[in-house]
Amino acid sequence: MLARSCLRSARTAGVARNVASRTASRSASTSTSSEASSQWKNTAMGAGAATFAIGSTAWYYYQFVRPAHAMTPAEEGLHATAYPWEHEKLTKTYDHQALRRGFQVYREVCASCHSLQRIPYRALVGNMMTVDEAKVLAEENEYDTEPNDEGEIEKRPGKLSDYIPSPYKNDEAARAANNGALPPDLSLITKARHGGCNYIFSLLTGYPEEPPAGAVVQEGLNFNPYFPGTGIAMARVLYDGLVEYEDGTPATTSQMAKDVVEFLNWSAEPEMDDRKKMGWKVMAVASSLLLLSIWVKRYKWSTIKTRKVIYDPPVNKAARNPSTRGTTVNMKGGMGGN
Ligand code: HEC
Repeated sequence: MLARSCLRSARTAGVARNVASRTASRSASTSTSSEASSQWKNTAMGAGAATFAIGSTAWYYYQFVRPAHAMTPAEEGLHATAYPWEHEKLTKTYDHQALRRGFQVYREVCASCHSLQRIPYRALVGNMMTVDEAKVLAEENEYDTEPNDEGEIEKRPGKLSDYIPSPYKNDEAARAANNGALPPDLSLITKARHGGCNYIFSLLTGYPEEPPAGAVVQEGLNFNPYFPGTGIAMARVLYDGLVEYEDGTPATTSQMAKDVVEFLNWSAEPEMDDRKKMGWKVMAVASSLLLLSIWVKRYKWSTIKTRKVIYDPPVNKAARNPSTRGTTVNMKGGMGGN
């Protein structure tokens, strides 16, 4: 594009000069040798401009457009496959049965190492559980009471407003139990990792039976090609049949991974269903208003747009040429579109 516009301007400049030199040579009635030389100059100028344009584009690409990799692909981790997640489509909501299954996987598998600090029991109500189910679940755990009159803090069963308890008291305890590696909180994990759902699904299902030949795996780490650096402190946790789904779905590794990933996506983005519903309403209202405003604009401007402007100059009798006397000079011309 740049090269073409450069060429065009060079060509126009050349044409202008051509015309000028042609008239000059005609009036001086000299030979046409200068014409040939100016043509050569035009070609040279066009070629020069094109070379310059291509060169500067190439230089710009080389300097600024090429991706710069700070890490090797192994250090960055294998890029996760893009899976066609149903809930990521514009017109789809979460599959709430999958959320319920995913929460079961979280509770039975991941919760022994990973916290889910941002999710209170009340958030589960209506999304994957009834009020009563969530209350029963909350009451399974004990929480501190407010200090009583003697300043003592006692224990009480959990309520819907309590948050899901963490497996460890603090990060230090979590590290101590996991060989020095901290299992991250999973509440926002799908947003916190490049690749989101795809990455976590690939990570959970991507443990090979054996590390490939030549791969160096540190003591205490497990090989996973999707994890940056390929050595991850979390071992493979999902195996076929690990949980028993109450809705009878076969609990294969990939089914559990898919369900837990969808659940983790919900925990990071619980507003998604409402957001999409609201989005469609906004689009419907905004597009009707846009059409209406286009119509109003055309309506309001129609008198101006269909107006015809006529220039009718006064006749200057004194300056009138005697030869044209008798004829009427009446210039009627449309100005600005008819
Ligand atoms: C035995 C404890 C344990 C269990 C069970 C476990 N994890 Fe982990 N997980 C870890 C540890 C430790 C790390 C930190 C790994 C590291 O930094 O090398 C981790 C890291 C992760 C990460 C972050 C990877 C990254 O890119 O930083 C995700 C996501 C994850 N686990 C998901 C899960 C899910 C989902 C489950 C349940 C299906 C689960 N984990 C079960 C111990 C566990």
